This record gives sequence, structure tokens and C-alpha cells, in this order.
Amino acid sequence: MEEREESVVHVFDTTLRDGEQSPGATMNVEEKLAVARQLEELGVDVIEAGFAVSSEGDFASVQAVAAAVGRPVVLSLARTKEADILRAVRAVEKAKRPGIHVFIATSDIHLRHKLMMSREQVKEAAGWAVELARKHLEHVEFSAEDASRSDRDYLVSVFDEAVRAGASVLNVPDTTGYAIPEQTQALFEYLRTHVAGGDRVRWSTHCHNDLGMAVANSLAAVRGGARQIECTLNGIGERAGNTSLEEVVMALETRADYFALRTNVKTEQLYRASRLLTQVTGIEVPINKPIVGENAFAHEAGVHQDGVLKNTLTYEIMRPERIGRPSNSLVLGKHSGRHAFLDRLKTLGLWYPELDMNKAFAAFKALADKKKNVYDEDLVAIVAEESVRVPKQYELIDLETSSSTSASPRARLRVRVGEATVETEASGDGVVDATYNALASAIERFGGSRPTLERYVVKAITGGTDAQGEVSCLLRDGETSAIGQSSATDIIVASAHAYVAALNKLQYLKAHRPLEANHGP
Ligand code: KIV
Ligand code: ZN
Repeated sequence: MEEREESVVHVFDTTLRDGEQSPGATMNVEEKLAVARQLEELGVDVIEAGFAVSSEGDFASVQAVAAAVGRPVVLSLARTKEADILRAVRAVEKAKRPGIHVFIATSDIHLRHKLMMSREQVKEAAGWAVELARKHLEHVEFSAEDASRSDRDYLVSVFDEAVRAGASVLNVPDTTGYAIPEQTQALFEYLRTHVAGGDRVRWSTHCHNDLGMAVANSLAAVRGGARQIECTLNGIGERAGNTSLEEVVMALETRADYFALRTNVKTEQLYRASRLLTQVTGIEVPINKPIVGENAFAHEAGVHQDGVLKNTLTYEIMRPERIGRPSNSLVLGKHSGRHAFLDRLKTLGLWYPELDMNKAFAAFKALADKKKNVYDEDLVAIVAEESVRVPKQYELIDLETSSSTSASPRARLRVRVGEATVETEASGDGVVDATYNALASAIERFGGSRPTLERYVVKAITGGTDAQGEVSCLLRDGETSAIGQSSATDIIVASAHAYVAALNKLQYLKAHRPLEANHGP
């Protein structure tokens, strides 16, 4: 590695692979593409786009991401099996900077109970697989799964073998979130000095958050010499999740005085990236989550507010603008024109070439008509909604609801289904239930089956009684599930649109190859 490079920590994003292994985070190809494009904008160095051999859907997603992005290396995960490696190589062949991520477990627990292999066999498999991968691709990363619970000297011997076979990145995962930061730093220091050729490779850290220490462990790894951090947006991932990208990046930036390192991430894009992922997966971040949680920059106590008003340095270690977090200031109103709208999107880092400006502007105008004040956060919601699109088989044309204390709530609506328009009416336990019953009966009229509503979440974006309500609902039809989201000043309207958005995604997923379960490691 060049001297200069030593001060750069590469960001390896695995939102689309390990992140997608979060329960309920399954994404379709279009959604993965939207996230991948955003990751490229964000400036990540590596995108792990999936586990190509695990399903047709994963293969298609890796292929699509490989073709769509330019600067980041695009990788697929692969076990030490020929079929995995060849499939992964195939999936990334259109990438400008293709790569492969080969892994096998090295802890005795995994060897004995999962792989039923001896230490010698695992070492041999690692070398063999890296050699095969290197015949096809230059960028080969090797991971020793469950490294933090593996015998240190055995780990050294497996990494020796991976370097000999041509791996250029060595990853030391804390697969179970078991490690303690001091141990992590010491492990990296040990490996870097004991692995033959350890000074010629990039060392990578990959931590899980089971004990809430994924970020701390990743930073400790960096102190121990790691120069790549594997992480996910919003920290999503298997079980308690992975290292949170936004937290680890902002820790390196905010404490540059301590780490003296930098990443290539454009931090002003962090908030937007986080919001997009929430939009796509329907998984909200906790309100107190560092960096991107609703309260992360809110000051409640009088003494804090007083201090911040006098000087933000009193209680703020970073400015919200640094992560592109809207200030919640009034920006536009119903008289604002297209130019002002576009200008604001650009200022907020919300504009990108594929954005359908006509639709986004129309959505803004419709909102401005209903809502006196349009805040930056409203714009984030509009753009997030526009950035993931699937063909619209269903479209809500009109909705009328009634509810009173003496009669059961009713909904009457008109919906377009393909070329036809249908009107239905239904009652329910509440207005939302009545609306969903009316929508379901429209589907049934056209021979479709009523999906099950598995999750329904509503929250207010901005404050005030004219705040937009953001609704997310998860629908399931047999093996296929899809999330729909929508925001509007009227939560019943937002609920109806969210349901219709989920229906369109369901329809799309069923018409294309359904995503099989991701059999991730
Ligand atoms: O957690 C883990 O060990 C992994 C590997 C495949 C890198 O995700
Ligand atoms: Zn993992």
C-alpha cells in the first residue's frame, strides 16, 4: 500500500447483502439499484451487492448493481465452492471494478458443528478457493468467518494461505458480536505482524452488534491497523445488525484529531442515504439512534437549549448540516416555482439524474397546496418516494371515507386496475381498515387474492397539525411480500397510497422471478 493510502479507511458497504439478511429487509432489484446508486453518490469504496449463488433474485441484483455503478468495487459473496465462485464471477462481469468475497469459517465451533471439517481441510479449501477466484478476478477478498472466536495461530496460518493464493484484502469478522474492543485491536496488531505478506494486503473489519459494540470494535480494529470497515446503512443486518455506516464514518470524521484518518464518504449524503433505506425496507431507525435518529440533534433540557443558542459548541459535537440533515426550516411554499424547487433539491443533495422531475415537482405542488409550510424533511420524503419506482398496475383515483361515533367507518374508492377502473365500498374496524377492505375487494374483482397486512406503521414527519403522516405497510401474498410507503398530510390518504404502492410491488415481484429466501451465512 502507498504511504498516502495509509490515512484512508475504505468503506465497504454490505447493506445489500448482510443488511438484507435483517428480518423484513428483503429488497427487490429496483430497490437494490436505488440503494446502490445512492451508495455510489455517498462515496463508498466497495459495494457487496449480494450472494449470487443463493438465489436467482440475488444473482440478478448483483448483475444489475454491477452494471449500474462506476467508482465502487462491486462484489458478490461466495463460499469456498466452485459453483459459488463461478456464479459470483459471472454476476459481476459487467462491473467496471469487479471483485469477489470468498469466506469460510475458522473457529473450532464452526468447524466441528457446522462444516464438519478439520483445520487442515478448511485451510486447504481457503487457499484453493482464493486461487480459483484469482484466476478470474484481481480483487479477491478473503474472510475467516467467526475469526474473533478462532484460535489466533490457526487464523494466522489460514490467512498465510489466503495471501499466498493471491487475496488482496483479508477480513477478520466478529461474526457473533462477541469481541471486546481492546481484544479486537490486539488481534489486528497480531495478525498484521504474524501473517506472511500481511503488510501487502488491506486488513478489513466486519463486526456484528450483538453486544452493542460493533462500532467500537470497528474503530478498535482501525487502531490495530485495519483500513477497511464493513458496515451497513442504519446498521441493519443479521440479528442485532452490523456496524452502522453513518456512526463509524462520523466517529472517524468528528474525532479526526484522535484517529488522523479519513474516508471517501461525502458525509452530507448520509441522512439522505439513511432515509432512502428506511423508505425501501420500511424499517424505521430508533428515535435516539446516533446521527440519523429523530432526536440525534434535538435539545430538550432548558439548560442545553440555552447553551446551544449561545454557542452550538456547548452541546453539539457535530453540525446536522454535516450529515445533510435538513434544518427543518421553511423552504418553499405553493408559489415556489420549478427552479426554486430544483435549486433546493440540489442544495440538500437530493437531486440525481434519474429523478423524474415532473413527478417530483407535481408531488411537491400537490403537497404545497395542502400544507402551508413545506419543510426540507418533506422534500426528503417526496424524493425518497420518487426514487423507487415499479410499474403501476394499480392506481388510487379517488377515496372518500366516513366515520362517526354511532356508525361503523366506511370507505368508498375508485381505483385503476390495469386499463380498467373499478369502484368499491367497504366498512371496517376503523377508517384505515375500511379503506384496506375496499382496496382488497377491488383486487378480488379482478381475480386477484387478498394479501395479508403484516405490518402497518404510521409516523409524523415534521411537526404541527398539518404535518405529513408517513405510512409504511407490509403486504404478503404467499411467499412474496412487499413494503409500500407514502406520505401525505392526511394519514388515511397516505395509508391508501402505501397499500397501493405495496400492491404494485407485490404484482411486480410475482410477475418477475420471485426472490427466494437469501441463504446468507
Ligand atoms: O458475519 C460474517 O462473518 C459475515 C462473513 C460472510 C463476512 O458476514
Ligand atoms: Zn456478517
